[in-house]
Amino acid sequence: MTHTSSSSDSIRAIVTGHTRGLGAALAAQLLQQEIAVLGLSRGRDASLAARFPQHFRDTALDLADTAAVATWLAGGALREFVAGAGCVLLFNNAGAVEPIGPLATQDASAVARAVSLNVAAPLMFASALAALDTDAERRIVHISSGAARNAYAGWSVYCATKAALDHHARAVTLDANGRLRIGSVAPGVVDTDMQATIRSASEERFPQRERFEQLKQNNQLTSPEAAARKLVAYVLSDGFGTQPVTDVRELPAS
Ligand SMILES: NC(=O)c1ccc[n+]([C@@H]2O[C@H](COP(=O)([O-])OP(=O)(O)OC[C@H]3O[C@@H](n4cnc5c(N)ncnc54)[C@H](OP(=O)(O)O)[C@@H]3O)[C@@H](O)[C@H]2O)c1
Repeated sequence: MTHTSSSSDSIRAIVTGHTRGLGAALAAQLLQQEIAVLGLSRGRDASLAARFPQHFRDTALDLADTAAVATWLAGGALREFVAGAGCVLLFNNAGAVEPIGPLATQDASAVARAVSLNVAAPLMFASALAALDTDAERRIVHISSGAARNAYAGWSVYCATKAALDHHARAVTLDANGRLRIGSVAPGVVDTDMQATIRSASEERFPQRERFEQLKQNNQLTSPEAAARKLVAYVLSDGFGTQPVTDVRELPAS
């Protein structure tokens, strides 16, 4: 059910990291609600294109390449996609947990790529969407993490980048934003390739590895579909944006 003032055919959604995991589930569920989706990842999704030819399009873009992101945003693709929309959703979902390990093990270029992907790109997309000359309502969702709020050994880059998204949302909320809302939302522990990457890290680099191994073995990971369902319902609800920082595990059932 939609609580924005727009009907689903006038809502459009930009989903970064739509080719796998949580982003793929978000894109599929938005499309099932007849919300047009523009996906942005390094890869493309032929199956979504085949299933939803009318409402889905995607573009290959390396979001860790800040110059490429700036060039893409300066082109007209975003403006063209949102033209005529009553409401535009931006899911800043693409992200990476690597580099995993203590400071001295972190390769400088890997640090730069993680910060570019996890922080620079979401902030660049957010400001580009806000700057568009449109009357459309806008809702920006940063996909955050429990790691933004609790520190984990071995995850200093990931924790710092996700905390940056939380604090960005808090500060943006203080601006005069007109019909723009923002929220930084932790999605829970979701059974995706990112969790496989976490489990493949050595105990030395990530001392809590065993805990994540246990969560998987005990079927305690949320499916991408269940996490996406909660996220989409929340983002379309009246309550979205009233709190800048939330966790889907703490939202009232919709
Ligand atoms: N899984 C969890 O338990 C969990 C928990 C808390 C928060 N999160 C957050 O949820 C979000 C989604 O995570 P996930 O678990 O679904 O991850 P995932 O399975 O690893 O998928 C990551 C997605 O991001 C895209 N991506 C990665 N690097 C990219 C790049 N350089 N440029 C463009 N796209 C890129 C990937 O597509 P391509 O490879 O095609 O580029 C893929 O579609 C992330 O922000 C993550 O931090 C996840």
